[in-house]
Amino acid sequence: MQGHWSDPGRRIGRMNPSQKTGREIIAAARPGSLSAFPEGESMENHSASTMHAFPDADRAAVYQAIFNRRDVRGQFLPTPVPDDVLSRVLMAAHHAPSVGFMQPWNFLLVRSDAVKQRVHDVFQQANDEAARMFPEGKSEVYSRLKLQGILESPINLCITCDRSRSGPVVIGRTHIPTMDLYSSVCAVQNLWLAARAEGLGVGWVSIFHEKALQEALAIPEHIVPIAYLCIGYVSHFKDKPELEQAGWLPRLPIDDLLYFDQWGNREAGQDAPLCDALREMQAGIQQDQVYPR
Ligand SMILES: Cc1cc2nc3c(=O)[nH]c(=O)nc-3n(C[C@H](O)[C@H](O)[C@H](O)COP(=O)(O)O)c2cc1C
Repeated sequence: MQGHWSDPGRRIGRMNPSQKTGREIIAAARPGSLSAFPEGESMENHSASTMHAFPDADRAAVYQAIFNRRDVRGQFLPTPVPDDVLSRVLMAAHHAPSVGFMQPWNFLLVRSDAVKQRVHDVFQQANDEAARMFPEGKSEVYSRLKLQGILESPINLCITCDRSRSGPVVIGRTHIPTMDLYSSVCAVQNLWLAARAEGLGVGWVSIFHEKALQEALAIPEHIVPIAYLCIGYVSHFKDKPELEQAGWLPRLPIDDLLYFDQWGNREAGQDAPLCDALREMQAGIQQDQVYPR
């Protein structure tokens, strides 16, 4: 922790007296810790910054969904998912942002055991290949990881991207064609978060030969399968990512990932208190499981 604070690569400190320190930024974020208006803030500015914010409990619920979301592989229960619940999470996905509003997704719902088995076979082949791709040591660890819950989860869902959905020229995708793929990913994330709020686990399975997955699901060649998801109620949600718990990779320090104005520039300047706040917040999460709310 101390090493972080004294990292010579950053300039940490209060750049001007009215600027909040990282500690003050975090304190201000804690419910009940704020005076009427934070120091140096006018009533107008304060109301502009809060008037569209959700009430505290609702805002906390959004963060709760984000920080408690997990990729689930092994804890699925056979409990059926009612249609009203499923309809809400699908509708959340359908309300994702999309480039040019092209809504390039389809939702292919899989309940058939036979189809699930076909997809599982496709996974198994790719997973055996994958195990051989890692160096000695990691390969054995890889083989012990459970990386899907295709057969155990009551619902499988493939979210796709139709790259021709609204014709060849799409607002916003004129110069970077992959924007449609990213739009479908937004739909996945919306569904994932909504599912967490509903108490549903979601696991993303991506270890497939794309063509084999398309064949297993009769997906036409021009439709890209973006995410194959396993969905269902779960015995429990893990506190941390399984890959973090298994020692595969740690969560990276967010302030190592933050640059200023130019790629690679880590001179925080006026954003030094922001870096402090992020560092402190991440320490709180990693050490004490205290999450922003
Ligand atoms: C694009 C994408 C593909 C993924 N593919 C797999 C997968 O094939 N198998 C798996 O077990 N997890 C997969 N995951 C889940 C990640 O391993 C997981 O999100 C990450 O370890 C962090 O854990 P968390 O989601 O529980 O926070 C995938 C996640 C993403 C975003």
